[in-house]
Amino acid sequence: RYIDTNAEEKMNPHAEQEAWEEYQISKATMKYGSKNKKQASDDYQFVFEDQIDFIKASVMDGDNVDLEEMDDVVEKSKAKSALEALLEERKKLPIYPYRDELLKAIDEHQVLVIVGETGSGKTTQIPQYLHEAGYTKRGLIACTQPRRVAAMSVAARVSHEMGVKLGHEVGYSIRFEDCTSEKTIVKYMTDGMLLREFLGEPDLASYSVVMVDEAHERTLSTDILFGLVKDISRFRPDLKLLISSATLDAEKFSDYFDSAPIFKIPGRRYPVEINFTKAPEADYLDAAIITALQIHATQPPGDILVFLTGQEEIETAEEILKHRTRGLGTKLAELMICPIYANLPSELQAKIFEPTPEGARKVVLATNIAETSLTIDGIKYVIDPGFCKMKSYNPRTGMESLLITPISKASAMQRAGRSGRTGPGKCYRLYTAYNFHNDLDDNTIPEIQRTNLANVVLMLKSLGIHDLMHFDFMDPPPAEALLKALELLFALGALNKLGELTKVGRQMTEFPLDPMLSKMIVASEKYKCSDEIISIAAMLSVGNSIFYRPKDKQVHADNARLNFHSGNVGDHVGLMKVYNSWKETNYSSQWCYENYIQIRSMKRARDIRDQLAGLLERVEIELASNSSDLDAIKKSITSGFFPQSARLQKNGSYRTVKHPQTVHIHPSSGLAHVLPRWVIYHELVLTTKEYVRQVTELNPDWLVELAPHYYQLKDVEDSVSKKMPCGEGRA
Ligand code: CDP
Ligand code: MG
Repeated sequence: RYIDTNAEEKMNPHAEQEAWEEYQISKATMKYGSKNKKQASDDYQFVFEDQIDFIKASVMDGDNVDLEEMDDVVEKSKAKSALEALLEERKKLPIYPYRDELLKAIDEHQVLVIVGETGSGKTTQIPQYLHEAGYTKRGLIACTQPRRVAAMSVAARVSHEMGVKLGHEVGYSIRFEDCTSEKTIVKYMTDGMLLREFLGEPDLASYSVVMVDEAHERTLSTDILFGLVKDISRFRPDLKLLISSATLDAEKFSDYFDSAPIFKIPGRRYPVEINFTKAPEADYLDAAIITALQIHATQPPGDILVFLTGQEEIETAEEILKHRTRGLGTKLAELMICPIYANLPSELQAKIFEPTPEGARKVVLATNIAETSLTIDGIKYVIDPGFCKMKSYNPRTGMESLLITPISKASAMQRAGRSGRTGPGKCYRLYTAYNFHNDLDDNTIPEIQRTNLANVVLMLKSLGIHDLMHFDFMDPPPAEALLKALELLFALGALNKLGELTKVGRQMTEFPLDPMLSKMIVASEKYKCSDEIISIAAMLSVGNSIFYRPKDKQVHADNARLNFHSGNVGDHVGLMKVYNSWKETNYSSQWCYENYIQIRSMKRARDIRDQLAGLLERVEIELASNSSDLDAIKKSITSGFFPQSARLQKNGSYRTVKHPQTVHIHPSSGLAHVLPRWVIYHELVLTTKEYVRQVTELNPDWLVELAPHYYQLKDVEDSVSKKMPCGEGRA
């Protein structure tokens, strides 16, 4: 069932010329609108010649040459030669010789599985080929990415290659950030965003092609998308479906999509020398840094890619590397340190793709994102400590945590492969060969089997898919996890006893947030504090990057942070105060600077808040402010987060109420030293201990009042007994 792709046979001597012409025409079509392709093509060919002739003529006539016009022509021809250079680059990609054949296969089959190594050009080229072949005349081309950074950076690259402005013909859509317009015909988006598109347009009528890219990553959203696109492809024969993957388990995708043909793009791969450590490393971060410096000092030119597990680790490594290379003076070549992770501001993301200057060496410190989603040219050395951060979920307790976990063999292989793309490479694995063979799993477990499903269950319910047990999952989630999700949604009031969506559930679906956050917002209607609650929700959605704590000014930074916590209002209200104070200064950056607050995060919060305000309007909840009634605010929070309550223990730790587990208040919390008897928390993180983060004091009576299906009096007995000395409980 593999489509035969034979490179020699298909080397059409005219292909390049044809492709170039097609490309010019498509560019012109874009510029002049798609009505008249022939006209557009003619226009395009002459647009530069015309103007140059015009200027030549003016000069010869002795006229005053319009300098501005002259500049314009120069700019245009510069842009043209940049485009030509990019086109040359595009032609060198492994996918290029298969362009026509691929288009033919897409034309002939509704569903096609495409396999090609990372960097072969699947993500950046296929949507362009499809556009050049006219698919965009029938509808948008969607290309999904599991990661937001990948969606953004690939869209930027493709808009560049097509010579258009990002957000115009080529755009991206990620949660809370829509960089598309009426003009957009190629849309890169996170898989989660395409999932949300189904809510507004269940048959995806505005799309002509859906490319589920990086399918091998098997994120939760991708897995759900599989089921949905498979379903709509049956009644939309005109919709083309491409499933693209960087790994060779394509047969599984093919099987799932009713034996869809597989199109394999032969990769170019150079040999990679694999080195293991002789003994296990105690501190992989330190080992990675030392290895990078050793490579820099002893190995021939070539960039280094280091796989780390997250932003914090990357920042630490960056700092240590900077410190250690500072003393080296001019003895060694310059080492450029380039971090890349999901929250890295986009203007800094571009830096990793810039070519390394002559004589220097680049070291890229990346999360898993560089494993397959992003290709950085020039990497010759890979350092693989063998870990990644992975979500794990305990359906019994409903606890979700992000854990640093050993990677799979498949991941290790992908990582090594990153070094052999442009020439022979070397991979340094910071674990032993014995570890590799005996301790690592073959493949990573798909996310659907190790995550909280409340969000997707709510989404599927609102798409009218009720029988979740029989949904066409590629790999089904544990039944227990599905039940847990249904249970939570019921407790939140999103589903009724029959498992049907309620009005509250429908309102919740409108918000692109986790169900507990959505519920908190919906509940704020009752307490007339939606204005405050959306500020809190926006601040929580930004993550933990609001405050910064420079190493040399930690005390000042901590004091500034504590200012927002006076009266032990709790972290949620603290965040609200930060937002409101910033707003009062008319969104001043100076104010942020003085208070050790990241302006970028605040701007993002403002943006998210605006969008949440818009969504409130859509679900017909009035924007109401009640900032002096802290109980109203806390009750709204509790309405969403009641499953995450904890009670103080004698030793200063906490015990979660519903599924008892010991946790601690995170040191960054405003309540870390206050230790209220009862708290509600936003998230549980596992670092050196089990910490709860973003914590607010709770009146335990609210648990029974707001979640009577979930808590009984006995769960909160000690507070009840205080108030009712003769009643039930311990009195
Ligand atoms: O999807 P696949 O891994 O097959 O390849 P791709 O992402 O389309 O990358 C093709 C080429 O585009 C690579 O050589 C990348 O270096 C380049 N590229 C880039 O320069 N900037 C990006 N943001 C993405 C890709
Ligand atoms: Mg790709």
